[in-house]
Amino acid sequence: MISMAAPSAHELVAWYAEMGVTEALDETPHNHFSTPAPAQPEAQRARAPARQQGAGPAPAARPIAAAATAPDDAALSARALAQAASTLEELRAALAQFEGCALKVTAKSLVFSDGNPAGRVMLVGEAPGADEDRQGLPFVGRSGQLLDRMLASIGLTRQEHVYVANLLPWRPPGNRTPTPQEVAICLPFIQRQIELADPDLLVCVGGPSAQGLLGLTGILASRGKWVDYDTGRRRIRALAMLHPAYLLRQPVQKRLAWRDLRALRAALDAQQG
Ligand code: URA
Repeated sequence: MISMAAPSAHELVAWYAEMGVTEALDETPHNHFSTPAPAQPEAQRARAPARQQGAGPAPAARPIAAAATAPDDAALSARALAQAASTLEELRAALAQFEGCALKVTAKSLVFSDGNPAGRVMLVGEAPGADEDRQGLPFVGRSGQLLDRMLASIGLTRQEHVYVANLLPWRPPGNRTPTPQEVAICLPFIQRQIELADPDLLVCVGGPSAQGLLGLTGILASRGKWVDYDTGRRRIRALAMLHPAYLLRQPVQKRLAWRDLRALRAALDAQQG
C-alpha cells in the first residue's frame, strides 16, 4: 500500500503557487456575495421595533445591488452618476457609492487616480492589480515602477506632469481580464474622468484601455499611432502604448515602447510651441 504522508506547509504553499494561487487574502473565508442589511435612515430606525435576542433567525442578508442590477441599468446609472459629477472629487464620491459593478464586491479599494490632475498628459491603464488594490493607487506595483522609469526617461513625473487612472477602478479577482460587460458599465466614469481632468494628451496603456477608449483592436498593430479623442469638451490627441506588464514579460519589445515615448515627448514639445 502506498503511504500518503500529509504534505508539509512548505509543500502545500509550493503546490498552491504552482497552481497559480498568488496570494492569501485572509485566514477565514468570507462570503463576498452577501452584505449586511443596508443602514436605515435615522427616522426609520427610531420607528422600527428593536429585535429581541433569540427572536428567530436573522433576516437573510440582502443580495448586493450589483448582482440585482441588469447590466443595461447599471450602465445607465453609471452614465447618470458620472454626468452629474462636476469635479474629480465628486466623481470619486459617485464611484464610491455606485453599486452596479460586481468587481467592487471582491476588491479591497476603489483605485481612482494618482499624479497631478492638472498635468498635460493623462495615462489610462487597464485595472488595478494586487498591489494597487492594497494601496488604493494605480500603477504602484512592478509594472507601475517600470512605468515611472519610462516616464522619467522623457522627463515626465506623476507629481508634476502626468495624471494616472484605469479603465476600471476595481481589481478583477485574480487579475483576470475584465469582461466586456464590466468595461461597458465602468466606461462612463473613466470618460467623465478624462473630461474633467481635461489633459492635452491621452495615453492608453495596454490593449483593453486602447480598445475601450479609442476603439482600437490589436495593440501591437495600433500602438504608436496618434488618433483623435473627443473628451466631450474638446478634441485631443491620443496614443496607445504597450503595457509595462507586457514589457516585463517581453523586454525585447521595450524598443517599441521607447519609440512611443519619444512620440509622446515630441507631441508635448510641439504643443508647447
Ligand atoms: N496595471 C494596470 O493596468 N493598472 C494598474 O493600476 C496596475 C497594473
